[in-house]
Amino acid sequence: MNAQRKRAIKTSSSELPTGRRKSSGIFGTKQHQLMGAILALIIGMILFVQLMAWSLVTTGEQRRHADSRMNTRNHHLARTYIPASTIDLPSYTRDMARRAIRPAPWTCGDKRVVVDPLTNVRPIFSFVHVYKAAGSTLRDFFERYSLICRKSWMVLISCTKVKSSSIRANEDWEGCRVKQVVNGRHVDLHNIDDAKGERPYPTVNNTILRENFDIYGGHIQIGSGDFIHGRPVTDFPSQTPPVRHIVFLRDPMARFVSGIMYEQKVGTIKESDADKSLEGTVALIKKRVRGSRKSNSYMTRSFRYLLTPFQNTANMTATDIRLSTPEENRAKAQAVAAIRNLVHYNVIMGMAEQMDKSMIILRHALVSDRYTDDDLREYIDDLFGNYDNERSTEEETEENGMISRPKERFNLSERNGVSTAVVLQELKKDDDFMQIFQEYVKFEQMIHDFAWEMHKLQLEEATQIELKNKL
Ligand SMILES: *[C@@H]1O[C@H](CO)[C@@H](O)[C@H](O)[C@H]1NC(C)=O
Ligand SMILES: *[C@@H]1O[C@H](CO)[C@@H](O)[C@H](O)[C@H]1NC(C)=O
Ligand SMILES: *[C@@H]1O[C@H](CO)[C@@H](O)[C@H](O)[C@H]1NC(C)=O
Repeated sequence: MNAQRKRAIKTSSSELPTGRRKSSGIFGTKQHQLMGAILALIIGMILFVQLMAWSLVTTGEQRRHADSRMNTRNHHLARTYIPASTIDLPSYTRDMARRAIRPAPWTCGDKRVVVDPLTNVRPIFSFVHVYKAAGSTLRDFFERYSLICRKSWMVLISCTKVKSSSIRANEDWEGCRVKQVVNGRHVDLHNIDDAKGERPYPTVNNTILRENFDIYGGHIQIGSGDFIHGRPVTDFPSQTPPVRHIVFLRDPMARFVSGIMYEQKVGTIKESDADKSLEGTVALIKKRVRGSRKSNSYMTRSFRYLLTPFQNTANMTATDIRLSTPEENRAKAQAVAAIRNLVHYNVIMGMAEQMDKSMIILRHALVSDRYTDDDLREYIDDLFGNYDNERSTEEETEENGMISRPKERFNLSERNGVSTAVVLQELKKDDDFMQIFQEYVKFEQMIHDFAWEMHKLQLEEATQIELKNKL
């Protein structure tokens, strides 16, 4: 184990990113659980009583008054009510975290196909690339991992609108295309470039994935692989779905800003919006967010990956009477469904804000520490050792790509040093706008907060198990 990894493991459980809430009762360590539960009960009772009093006493006039006191100019854009994120949400336990990250039952370097004793089928991983959340870095990672460990990896494109009936009927996945295949079984490490670009599959279907692939991914939806093994997921033990999802998320505001900057970069934007200076970018973001809120819209970009092809989103609605608009009701229902999916599929949860820690989880899940050759361990140490947040510079963090391919990063000198972080910092100076921005991203934030708790538990489990193995 190299020094860097040791350090990462040592510091992992004590560090939290700033501004992150401490975990509540269900997520805490054993000794904190009781206290947390009692506290939560008391707070819950107080809130409940207040809520009852509020809904009985408050008249429309009083509400309007409160709103205008808070913010006269923006009160129709920035509402005050953030939905309590605990009401409809499932719980996530330590045991579930341990199952999510259990090591793949294969040996790195071994070409043979194995069976997962828990599911009795070939283990297959599905990487869900959420827009602007470290995806390029991970695509690059899976490619290298497959070459080193002799696994096979398929990249799909334009797959978020895959027709669910085609997946269920075991036809070619209608709407998806194969972008790239890297088959580590067919190449040796000295011949890596030949393996890229190999695309022997004109299309993708359940049979192709089941018979040939260990990992597939791209801009796809959770649950796309529900019928890969020819049986519905419900046939398998709970918390151990036969296709194991890997999802990375990133702070929603950062994802939004990064998305706008990407649009500016690739030029899919009106000429009047193409000003890449700090002022121009900030102005465009404010315009977009305010415009969306004027039409009651919320940021829901990640939903297209976190809801399954089988979920009827048009039919989703919440019955929370405190949510005023149909848009708000729908966004909340979808966010809750997305969170339930993260738990139901028991995804391996990575966070772009802490790539180094996320890679500890991923290493635990993908590398059982069995190698056909000691050299491979060195390659693997090298591969995983590359994700060190402390070492990263502003430029490197831009696409959250500590080792992302340089051509895919923003060229910061072209943008005069205007990065996502710089833009966010500038936006935060405008309190009025930030209220609207927070309202705009609040359902994405709800998913993000929940995902953090999953991530933290998985990291704690991975770290503990690794330490135990070392003793
Ligand atoms: C899946 O695709 C392959 C290659 O295009 C094809 O040979 C096979 O028949 C397809 N299987 C199904 C079930 O559609
Ligand atoms: C929509 O939701 C209602 C109520 O949950 C349900 O009864 C109905 O079957 C759903 N419709 C579709 C098309 O899924
Ligand atoms: C970044 O942009 C600057 C200015 O346009 C250019 O000189 C430089 O070569 C670019 N760097 C890369 C890596 O593309």
